[in-house]
Amino acid sequence: MSEKQKIFFAELQPYLNRLQQHLAEFGNEERIPLFYDPIHYILKLPGKRIRPLLVILSALTCGGKLESALYPAAAVELLHNFTLVHDDIMDNDDLRRGQPTVHKKWDIGTAILAGDGLMGLAFKKLLECPEGDVLTMVRRFTEVMLIICEGQGMDKMFEMEADVSEEKYLEMIRRKTAVLIELSCELGAITAGTDQANIRLFRRFGHALGMGFQIQDDFLDIMADEQALGKKVGSDWMMHKQTILTIKLRQRTQGNINDLSFEEFRELLKDQRIVKEVEELYQAYFRDAFDALNTLPQNSYNRSLKELTSLIQNRRW
Ligand code: IPE
Ligand code: IPE
Ligand code: MG
Ligand code: MG
Repeated sequence: MSEKQKIFFAELQPYLNRLQQHLAEFGNEERIPLFYDPIHYILKLPGKRIRPLLVILSALTCGGKLESALYPAAAVELLHNFTLVHDDIMDNDDLRRGQPTVHKKWDIGTAILAGDGLMGLAFKKLLECPEGDVLTMVRRFTEVMLIICEGQGMDKMFEMEADVSEEKYLEMIRRKTAVLIELSCELGAITAGTDQANIRLFRRFGHALGMGFQIQDDFLDIMADEQALGKKVGSDWMMHKQTILTIKLRQRTQGNINDLSFEEFRELLKDQRIVKEVEELYQAYFRDAFDALNTLPQNSYNRSLKELTSLIQNRRW
């Protein structure tokens, strides 16, 4: 992280501290550690907290209150952690946020249960929100949860398909990732009681940011430093995932890329200028995200949303 980014995160620290209190307040731990310990474990690992920060900053941009925004903020982080715990089982990954995944530290059954619990806690937290149109929030939250599961279903199905198009890939990542980032911005705007036109603009921002984020994530799976990323580099390749990188390479080489080693795959991506092309693609989405922010109320919180977007744009972790 650069000095500027460190200062920005220090400014956000009070929000993150309040968020962490919401994420740490569950009861019954002593009686059922098998259920609660893995939940606390994943919630204490150093995630980037992008989604709750988007809820909070979107709400504040529209004149909403931090104390109310913390409920949907905690809810989206809980839902996100549920998807991560189950995703790591589905993707057979050992490392998350630089530490063993829940199913490696405990076992698969315990991780399934932890994910179920996180989902329940997410809905509980959202329903406790003291302000705003909670029914609309819960309806959108439920819709999005189902869309994420659809996206995860498409992601798994594509492991067996050799001719996935760019179009289908973009639809899959929209569902598994972009919709939750979009929802985070939307929920912030809803808690603040802002009008429909603004809500639509926040959704446009979140959609563009979310699409850029997942394409960049697929890029980082190949190109990042494992220590910084906190996840296994090459995991998508090992699992035969269809990503924008494999799809573009298959188009160029007319087919067989499965026999390549990971190193050969990475070199070919560079030789074929696919690395550059993919970087340009996700940067185009980030530009759309900035454009959307320019159409929203301009104040110090909007400037923080721009800072956060630029932090994500340049992330290596
Ligand atoms: C990981 O999300 C899952 C994807 C959608 C790529 P993040 O990269 O936001 O994960 P944490 O919360 O920071 O660990
Ligand atoms: C991201 O999944 C989407 C969800 C977890 C719902 P990925 O499998 O692409 O993300 P990482 O690389 O494990 O974080
Ligand atoms: Mg996955
Ligand atoms: Mg995964």
